[in-house]
Amino acid sequence: MRGIILAGGTGSRLLPITRGTSKQLLPVYDKPMIYYPLSVLMLAGVRDILVISSPGDLPQYRELLGDGSAIGIRLSYAVQEKPRGIAEAFLVGADHIGDGPVALVLGDNVFHGAGFAELLRPHRSHTDGCVLFGYAVRDPERYGVAEVDEGGRLLSIEEKPDHPKSDLAITGLYLYDNDVVSVARGLRPSARGELEITDVNREYLARGKASLVNLGRGLAWLDTGTHDSLLEASQYIKTIEHRQGVRVACIEEVAVRMGYIDPDQCHRLGAGLASSGYGQYVMRVAEDVRRSAGRAPSGAGLSGPLPAR
Ligand code: TTP
Repeated sequence: MRGIILAGGTGSRLLPITRGTSKQLLPVYDKPMIYYPLSVLMLAGVRDILVISSPGDLPQYRELLGDGSAIGIRLSYAVQEKPRGIAEAFLVGADHIGDGPVALVLGDNVFHGAGFAELLRPHRSHTDGCVLFGYAVRDPERYGVAEVDEGGRLLSIEEKPDHPKSDLAITGLYLYDNDVVSVARGLRPSARGELEITDVNREYLARGKASLVNLGRGLAWLDTGTHDSLLEASQYIKTIEHRQGVRVACIEEVAVRMGYIDPDQCHRLGAGLASSGYGQYVMRVAEDVRRSAGRAPSGAGLSGPLPAR
């Protein structure tokens, strides 16, 4: 499965901060926001990922993340000329998607919680229909809202409804089969001039091919789109990290624990950042993995090299 991180948009609710920089490059406590959705895809086993952003911001993402080889993945980049809607990702990313399924994650979505990787695992080989992830929130009217029956079957999807039929917001992680490209090609812009992801999801629902996984109360899905929610997300991550002594969405750690890189490579990455607590943590993780796995042979990730294109 290929992956897409959508990291464009206007970030208008974060002005003036976003006048000079892209929202998804802003820090959520100790790391750039985009590390969080990138970790999600890596945990889902997705190693071939397209980063989409605006013409002005894309070079900064390339500078930050490179070609991905340092963390055992493949990253490529594409421009979205204007923020014409989330569903435009499937048009910009059509070549990248090729003839297989795709996982889309929004660049400003932060997920955290025990069991998240396990929850994604059964969907790694997803090839039919779409899978959405719902999360109960206090203010569902701000989001796409899912209505499900008692058995959890998806009944309806509404975009920012005045009277939500449930409190289940549809989060910014979506899995689709290859039909998503043709579905997106058939979309017309909405009243606000965007190609709406909700219209894509409704088309899958109409075809009887949409399902929803409720993330449940044990996981956190955090907003970062406003000044308050960005600060609260940072405080949340800081609290977890200080209390537990772990780092959330540390891409080097995800890479070594998933077997995308070996502990030697992880240690080198940490050493390159050694003047920060983040870098020192990465080096400790490398030692921890080395100890628990026995000394891994140099140059061989536990799950092997990146498959050829
Ligand atoms: P939104 O929250 O819908 O919009 P935004 O980030 O531009 O912010 P604001 O509402 O404050 O103006 O976007 C959700 C995510 O999707 C975010 O990471 C930006 C990204 N996005 C794009 O990359 N391209 C787009 O055309 C849209 C609509 C969003």
